[in-house]
Amino acid sequence: MKCLVAYYSNTGVTRKAAESIARMLDADTEAIEEKRPRPALEVGPGKVGAWAVARAGIAAMLGFGSRLVASRYKARDYDVVVIGTPVWVGSVTPPVRSYLRRHRMYFRSVAFFCTAGDPATVRAFKQMTATVRREPVACIALRTEDVKSGAHEGMLVKFIESIRSS
Ligand SMILES: Cc1cc2nc3c(=O)[nH]c(=O)nc-3n(C[C@H](O)[C@H](O)[C@H](O)COP(=O)(O)O)c2cc1C
Repeated sequence: MKCLVAYYSNTGVTRKAAESIARMLDADTEAIEEKRPRPALEVGPGKVGAWAVARAGIAAMLGFGSRLVASRYKARDYDVVVIGTPVWVGSVTPPVRSYLRRHRMYFRSVAFFCTAGDPATVRAFKQMTATVRREPVACIALRTEDVKSGAHEGMLVKFIESIRSS
């Protein structure tokens, strides 16, 4: 089974999860990149202003997309495309929304993952499913802290099995 893991990551957490998933599935990885990359969205001393975080959150909440750098891999070349996003205000991020819209006609099968401070609040999978107009074969929401500590690797086993057996 040929798998592609496509993800957007602003501060590296979703990238770390994507790399684990790609290693477990022996998949290619595609970093979804915006034409105008955002600063690291972390509030605090020496970090970006709260307005940049608010703007990103509002764009996600309102269902905006963003302009993307051309993809490296073609979705139609893969049996499964596993797509990952951080959660912004309970929602899929604008770059991942745009990626899904751009490639949805080429997906044979999809699986979704997200990272979030509190995955219990996640609406993102419903939005992703509606955008691609098909049900994912598997979904997993990972806590930011679990990805940072490495605890997420054990949590991925069932997710990977569902993809392999799809
Ligand atoms: C603008 C913004 C909005 C966020 N909204 C939520 C949220 O609604 N729920 C949540 O659990 N985490 C929220 N987070 C936290 C991120 O989802 C989390 O830190 C994620 O793991 C970051 O992934 P990344 O490092 O790949 O960018 C938000 C972060 C940002 C920057």
